[in-house]
Amino acid sequence: MVLAKDTDQLWWRSAIGYQIYPRSFQDSNHDGIGDLKGITSRFPYLKWLGVDFIWLNPIYTSPNIDNGYDIADFQNVASEYGTLDDLKTLINSAHQQNIRVIMDLVVNHTSNQHFWFQEAQTSRDNPYHDFYIWQPNHNDQAPNNWTNFTGDSVWTYNQATDEWYFHLFAPEQPDLNWENQSVQTEIIKIITWWSEQNIDGFRLDALSHLKKMPFDTLQSTDDYQFEIFANNPGIEVFLSLLHQTFQSLHLMTIGEAGGVHADTAKFWTGSQGFIDMIFELEHQVRQTQVPPRANRNHLLTRLTAWENTLNTDGWLGLYLENHDQPRSITVYGNDNPLAAKSLATLLLSLRGTPFIYQGEELGMTNMLFTTPDQIDDPPTYHDYQRFLAAGISTDVALKQATSWSRDNARTPMQWTNFGFSDNELNSKNTWMVTNPNTTFLNYQKNRQDPKSVLNYYHKLIHLRRKDEVLKSGRFQSYDIGHPDILIFTRYLLPDKRLILINLASTPQSISIPHSILSENWHTIISTIEPTPEISPTMQLQPFQSIIWYN
Ligand code: BGC
Repeated sequence: MVLAKDTDQLWWRSAIGYQIYPRSFQDSNHDGIGDLKGITSRFPYLKWLGVDFIWLNPIYTSPNIDNGYDIADFQNVASEYGTLDDLKTLINSAHQQNIRVIMDLVVNHTSNQHFWFQEAQTSRDNPYHDFYIWQPNHNDQAPNNWTNFTGDSVWTYNQATDEWYFHLFAPEQPDLNWENQSVQTEIIKIITWWSEQNIDGFRLDALSHLKKMPFDTLQSTDDYQFEIFANNPGIEVFLSLLHQTFQSLHLMTIGEAGGVHADTAKFWTGSQGFIDMIFELEHQVRQTQVPPRANRNHLLTRLTAWENTLNTDGWLGLYLENHDQPRSITVYGNDNPLAAKSLATLLLSLRGTPFIYQGEELGMTNMLFTTPDQIDDPPTYHDYQRFLAAGISTDVALKQATSWSRDNARTPMQWTNFGFSDNELNSKNTWMVTNPNTTFLNYQKNRQDPKSVLNYYHKLIHLRRKDEVLKSGRFQSYDIGHPDILIFTRYLLPDKRLILINLASTPQSISIPHSILSENWHTIISTIEPTPEISPTMQLQPFQSIIWYN
């Protein structure tokens, strides 16, 4: 079954998305790795939850240096996930249940195992050589001082051609040369081929990095050091080519746009932009930032800035978690389930398309890593080694490296006491260790408990699905001068929703602005029952968030 692509082109504006990290979602063949059949078997759950589409992290053939973000074959499925036929079954089954399917498109770079790079590295005359970015070797020195997000040089030497190739991520992930028209043509062929497999859109990985600054630019050491390879002049040529392709194929797009700030958002999304929705990275807890990283005020103020910017034009992809971030309940709420409910209220009441990351709806937490061999993510391991080299003790180095690691998001989904397999033996042999708290924090237990995080998500999702104001209303915030509390309305006049998000972990007393009190408000939902009436001075319990209607 194919869902009509042209009849409802803005379907994603009123939709709720769910991000699936295939390696950790559901193992169906007991090899300790999640797979496509496992995902398909969970559609009834996603239907119950109220999800309209899924975004699958990369499932293409890959040597897995970066868990699939190093693609060796764009048009095939990694054998550990199943076959192309399994994927067709997944897409078909999703569509039968009215769930759309978004794939990850990783075209800033490929794997060094991709046929193009295998050829490109052999000689300067090879037809694929210019598919990648090369600089000649002089005095065995890297061509410039640029370093990437992990602090390593972006250049690796290639003996066969006596050149250096550019890689923004690991050396095994060489960047494609987007200036080369043959690269553009090949990528368009790949997009077209996927469209023919009936997918509904793409999440565009590392989109802002396609254009690099001239290589004689010096990289600074300040906060903006990464801007030399983000959002650079000239990127619009590549973006508009992609945009035309996506438009003609009726594919929805959401672009990951690191280095893009709220004030330049409209260049990316909106009537003048190139993508339907944007994933901004400004509010994130980044691995490379120095403490204090968990800053609730930063989260609320950045989201407010983005909401204001895209209030009338453009669209935001809303998320608090993804496969690159530690778990939000840990970062912002010390693992308190009430914090997860408050964060859910934020995610599901803002203007934009909410994306729930697998397990977020259960209140899954960060894991306590007890040995270095539990680390999977190379940048995390890199941090660990760096801390050891700086003379930090093993235990402290492990704690420091893992407490902010993206590995926290990648531990297997906690469906049962055993994690993502109902077989105890297999749960002990999963590709990545399961968080031991799965014995008490899991789907089965959550579903039975009316007060669980999951049942709160369920209620809120179904509330939003039925509420045109929460889906499409405009956003207006009110300044109450509290760092951890955000008050805003969503409105589709004459209808309004008033939302109070409280991320404070201690009781608070706040004054509600007169302009709000002049209207009559009735409670719809609160993270803590009984739901309080609105009043000039309100006493709030820790993480008490509320939605009212007028
Ligand atoms: C993805 C990461 C990945 C990187 C390189 C990011 O934007 O979300 O998981 O490591 O791109 O592809």
